Amino acid sequence: MQNFVYHNPVKVLFGRGQISNLGGEIPAQAKVLLTYGGGSIKANGVYAQVRAALAGRAVVEFGGIQPNPRYETLMQAVEIVRKEGVEFLLAVGGGSVLDGTKFISAATHFDGDPWDILARQAPIARAVPLGAVLTLPATGSEMNFFAVVTRGETQEKLAFGNPLVYPRFSVLDPETTLTLPARQIANGVVDAFVHVLEQYLTYPAEAPLQDRLAEAILLTLIEEGPKTLADPADYTARANLMWCATMALNGVIAAGVPQDWATHMIGHEITALHGLDHAQTLAVVLPGTMIARQDTKREKILQFAARVWGIREGTPETRIVAAVEKTREFFESLGVPTRLSDYGVSADTIPVIVGRMEKRGMTAFGERGDVTPAKVREILALCV
Ligand code: NZQ
Ligand code: ZN
Repeated sequence: MQNFVYHNPVKVLFGRGQISNLGGEIPAQAKVLLTYGGGSIKANGVYAQVRAALAGRAVVEFGGIQPNPRYETLMQAVEIVRKEGVEFLLAVGGGSVLDGTKFISAATHFDGDPWDILARQAPIARAVPLGAVLTLPATGSEMNFFAVVTRGETQEKLAFGNPLVYPRFSVLDPETTLTLPARQIANGVVDAFVHVLEQYLTYPAEAPLQDRLAEAILLTLIEEGPKTLADPADYTARANLMWCATMALNGVIAAGVPQDWATHMIGHEITALHGLDHAQTLAVVLPGTMIARQDTKREKILQFAARVWGIREGTPETRIVAAVEKTREFFESLGVPTRLSDYGVSADTIPVIVGRMEKRGMTAFGERGDVTPAKVREILALCV
């Protein structure tokens, strides 16, 4: 097992009715900026619950944070935070609202061009404290310190991470997810599933506990995802799905093991250029990754095949192909297509993506640093 430091300070308030307790988590005198997206929280009553929990406090609002949150929009919120002297940010929504709010938190006191936080991983010295009310289980943003932001002008989708933007607390009430369209539930299952695989489908690291934890999350997603889609009123399935998505990317299964993240990096380019949902890009790229990189991922793919899909018969080659097919079938069964052509994207995009990544210096990534431009091309050729 590799050395690691593990410190996750996020306080989680999980379950029905927990929104009513968030007032106790925010300093009483702090001026709060409540951030949200396109209005789903107003339609489903979450906004009313949050406002009730903040009764008597100084609250400013900023709505309109888009899915794949836009830098241009977030900078408008930064202006408000500076002008109004906001001291606490409360993000209410899905991963996009949470990520956008983390960026607002980091950019407010940044000395220089805030785009550098994303483009150059410029260090930040200070961040506005933030909390979250999550309404969409998927990204794990509620319990990690990452954020992904898109710049419309240049069609770039870039990430940053800094412990200063860990939420102080996150409210996870599965009832807030009852109004999610099937597409977003399916996206959430796929995103969480691929988060686990980015930290598991690498090479053995003498970390059997992390492996078993990762497999437990995958198996639970395989059970609870379809249950949630089949019966939208099933609170228990939703609660389990929500906790799976959080556990998939809060650092627990990453401790002491190698990590990949190439599928995500390639996927971000596809969203930036073609507007696919984040999870849709992962469903497309993951099968290509597994096939094109099977030589270096062999042992873990075979373990995944056996322990997650029960595939134990046949040669290593046929077991790997069967595991890829099972995974593809799972995504498709949720209603998430797994080929670029299903989304109207042709092979013409491949040289564009390879060129953009190369220009940004992303020429050797993945758990072994061996995902080169040639490898990205090979992966994407399998995704058409
Ligand atoms: O904007 P509103 O009106 O709120 O509607 C949203 C949005 O249209 C809607 N929605 C959310 N909760 C709802 C709801 N509709 C009805 N009922 C509810 N309870 O769902 C739509 C999608 O929301 P979004 O926040 O964009 O989805 P998601 O949570 O999947 O977040 C995706 C973003 O997170 C990033 C992705 O790249 C993408 O930008 N990621 C963040 C990560 C992180 N911070 O660690 C890791 C991930 O790999 C990912 O990259
Ligand atoms: Zn993801």
